Amino acid sequence: MSTLITNIAELMTQDTEHRVLKDAAIVIEGERIAWIGAAADAPAADDAVDGAGRALLPGWVDSHTHLIFAGDRTAEFEARMAGEAYGAGGIAVTTGATRTTGDFDLTRLALGRVAEAVAQGTTYLETKTGYGLDVDNEARSARIASTVADEVTYLGAHLVPDGLDAEDYTDLVCGPMLAAVRPYVRWADVFCERGAFNEDQARRVLQACRDAGLGLRVHGNQLGEGPGVRLAVEFGAASVDHVNYLSRADVHALADSWSGWEAAAGAGERGTVATCLPACDLSTRQPLAPGRELLDAGVQLALASNCNPGTSNTSSMAFCVTTAVLQMRLSVHEAVRAATYGGALALGRETGNDVDGERALGSIAVGHRADLHLLNAPSATHLAYRPGMPLTHAVWRAGVRAR
Ligand code: NIG
Repeated sequence: MSTLITNIAELMTQDTEHRVLKDAAIVIEGERIAWIGAAADAPAADDAVDGAGRALLPGWVDSHTHLIFAGDRTAEFEARMAGEAYGAGGIAVTTGATRTTGDFDLTRLALGRVAEAVAQGTTYLETKTGYGLDVDNEARSARIASTVADEVTYLGAHLVPDGLDAEDYTDLVCGPMLAAVRPYVRWADVFCERGAFNEDQARRVLQACRDAGLGLRVHGNQLGEGPGVRLAVEFGAASVDHVNYLSRADVHALADSWSGWEAAAGAGERGTVATCLPACDLSTRQPLAPGRELLDAGVQLALASNCNPGTSNTSSMAFCVTTAVLQMRLSVHEAVRAATYGGALALGRETGNDVDGERALGSIAVGHRADLHLLNAPSATHLAYRPGMPLTHAVWRAGVRAR
């Protein structure tokens, strides 16, 4: 089954050449992109969709969410808006609510959140454990996450539960808890921050999870300067997320991690992506992550929603893109790239091959997965020019119309 989408005013490929095509068309065949080019040259297909002068982007790749939770933290949010500072302690409130919610409801809640994200143009999504914080509940969260999300990250090291010794809990995270979640997860993460896990504990978690064959990610430098970024680079983590408080040395370390990498040639070692979470920064009244400075330094950037009940109760990637343009001084092209190709890079999914079905994500090119987002606007600029407007017209996820 093939589908031709034609009459596309602007097709932002986010491919390695950063091409933006005008008056374009695209053909989807099964789950893959089969052809792109000028509308006038488009081949015939089984089905045709009139783009009606709209813009087409890759679907959003949301590389950082926490969707496996129950409960509500409106009161904490209200207190914050009244002047209280964010502290990681709220994680315990969500953990309590999550532990007392059954599998069926936890799954239903998470599926609802995924559906909301897809309806807004998200076509690939990572989610984490981290509101279970004991062996059974982390394993249960990982299992449920593996049924609702594309990628699952183990975040047993989110907070030391009340009444437990931090060193003993770190042993648990590195031992029995890791063994219990291992069948369901591809990634591991640690919240390396004052009030969560210190450098030594984070190092132990990263080492154990790497030894278990997991890819690594780090929550770092969210609430103050600290060792998160440095550790992420040292361990070759795929991404370090938050990055609000960075020293010059942190920025240099991130930039250096990409120095031998050539995207176009697919050559050299990949570095550590800096993942900015602007909705979280606004909702916690933290300074926005220095996305402009990071890009200018040569760091690869991702934008993600950080959808969670405490610091960022939204899955709107468009909101993140809008904020990155209006407040972080990224161009529209840069912000869309960070929310598509950047997310794929942060998940190690930016390349694939056309043979065994491991398809590239986050950009529009022949052979890549047909994850597409048709805007109800003639150009991506409208994402910033018309902030907050419902600009998603249609979504294809692996070639299937999802909206
Ligand atoms: O990414 N920073 C740590 N974890 C989440 C927030 C968790 C919470 O407060 O529930 C985050 O912001």
